[in-house]
Amino acid sequence: MLDKHTKVCLCKAIPRIKIKEAVSRGADTVEKVQKATGAGSGGCGGRRCTPKIQELLEKELNK
Ligand code: FES
Repeated sequence: MLDKHTKVCLCKAIPRIKIKEAVSRGADTVEKVQKATGAGSGGCGGRRCTPKIQELLEKELNK
């Protein structure tokens, strides 16, 4: 259970649990997840976290 501590978006310090929560509330695209969580709006412009969000989203949606 590293979801709370594993940061998906380093710039904004958004943990994996937040991404999962957004997905469970209906965010089904990377854009929606980013909008709901604020991930992707940090200094790197989402360059570091967008691929991770994409991967996580696919995993969550295919559960
Ligand atoms: S790591 Fe997410 S915006 Fe930079």
